[in-house]
Amino acid sequence: MLKRVISYAHELMETTVNPGETVVDGTCGNGKDTLFLGKLVGQTGHVVGFDIQADAIANTKALLEQEEVKNAHVIHDGHEHVEHYFKKYKVESIGGAIFNLGYLPGSDKSVITTPTTTIQAIDTLVAYLKKGGLIVLVVYHGHPGGDTERDALFNHLSKLEQRQFNVLQYGFINQKNSPPFILAIEKK
Ligand SMILES: C[S@@+](CC[C@H](N)C(=O)[O-])C[C@H]1O[C@@H](n2cnc3c(N)ncnc32)[C@H](O)[C@@H]1O
Repeated sequence: MLKRVISYAHELMETTVNPGETVVDGTCGNGKDTLFLGKLVGQTGHVVGFDIQADAIANTKALLEQEEVKNAHVIHDGHEHVEHYFKKYKVESIGGAIFNLGYLPGSDKSVITTPTTTIQAIDTLVAYLKKGGLIVLVVYHGHPGGDTERDALFNHLSKLEQRQFNVLQYGFINQKNSPPFILAIEKK
């Protein structure tokens, strides 16, 4: 009955994103979400994806090529610079965005998302988000630095103006080892 966190994150995107829209993968990693979003928006839509690690970019491009998904800009840069690329690709509005925070499993655990840059990206993206669209954050917080990012996000997102945004938290409270949870920002 109760969806696992990643499944629910995808369901949230599926129910709000339409074919033909532009969407953002804030943290490509190995490209699973980039692929999911690419299929979701279809050939007339676009994904703009970011990662700061060259390996992540290479893995994401390889996965997209293997699956013959050709509608993604996979950018080797931090998501905090998203506006620069929106201008470059003439993006005026987005249907949604997804971020998987923390480190890439199987990779360098010291390369993690950080509060300042994550919040900078979110603040830019909410301005481009369509009404009824979602920014979905999957928050991993069990690693060193993860608690700081989690607390900064709670502090920042709990202050978003209620007349303009709904902010949801979804997660399981009886699981061991700091399980990930979702924070989803809906633009009213
Ligand atoms: C949890 S992983 C993402 C997993 C990915 N969604 C997947 O399905 O494989 C987090 C990723 O965020 C990346 N990252 C860290 N800081 C970043 C930043 N400022 N901008 C973009 N990506 C960043 C890391 O390099 C890492 O690959």
